[in-house]
Amino acid sequence: MRFSIVVNGEQHVLDVPPTMRLIDLLRDELGLTGTKEGCSEGECGACTVLVDGKAVDSCLVLAVQVRDRKILTVEGLARDGELDVLQQKFLEHVASVQCGFCTPGMLMSAKALLLSEPHPSEEQIRLALAGNLCRCTGYTAIVRAVKEAADVMANAKSARPSDSGEAPELEPGAATALEPEAGLAGAAEGVPC
Ligand code: FES
Ligand code: FES
Repeated sequence: MRFSIVVNGEQHVLDVPPTMRLIDLLRDELGLTGTKEGCSEGECGACTVLVDGKAVDSCLVLAVQVRDRKILTVEGLARDGELDVLQQKFLEHVASVQCGFCTPGMLMSAKALLLSEPHPSEEQIRLALAGNLCRCTGYTAIVRAVKEAADVMANAKSARPSDSGEAPELEPGAATALEPEAGLAGAAEGVPC
């Protein structure tokens, strides 16, 4: 089946089987192996990516379901060689004490949260990450990293002159007016598994 998608700001025209999952397209067809596969059944959140700004379990979604959508994977977080603030804070608080397998999914769920809620409470952060499991039980450090990233981004935004009314630039996978198709609803979206 031939269709196009935009992944991390780059358009791809692909010809893949209609039964191919999004995670397989990302990892096997595009070589984006930052997205991890844990449970393969929507329980662990390791495979979370953003589809039009919303967190989705890529193991539960067929590739054809996201045709013409904007996908953001963990590889697309860094810009111009500079890590996203979320990545910087995860490095600071999380990287040295854990295995990191859940980190790409955690980062993407946190990214979806901050796109929709730039000033999240701790409760909102924990709810947004509730569908992402960490075997290393590092939730406290992860929540702290997300909170600090939100604070850094809020401070940077308030210091920019463009805050006086200009619309913010859209991230590669940021939310658009598109609503998820039937079949995407219920897949991750930050919902506890
Ligand atoms: S691999 Fe666990 S939710 Fe997709
Ligand atoms: S850091 Fe090891 S599973 Fe989360």
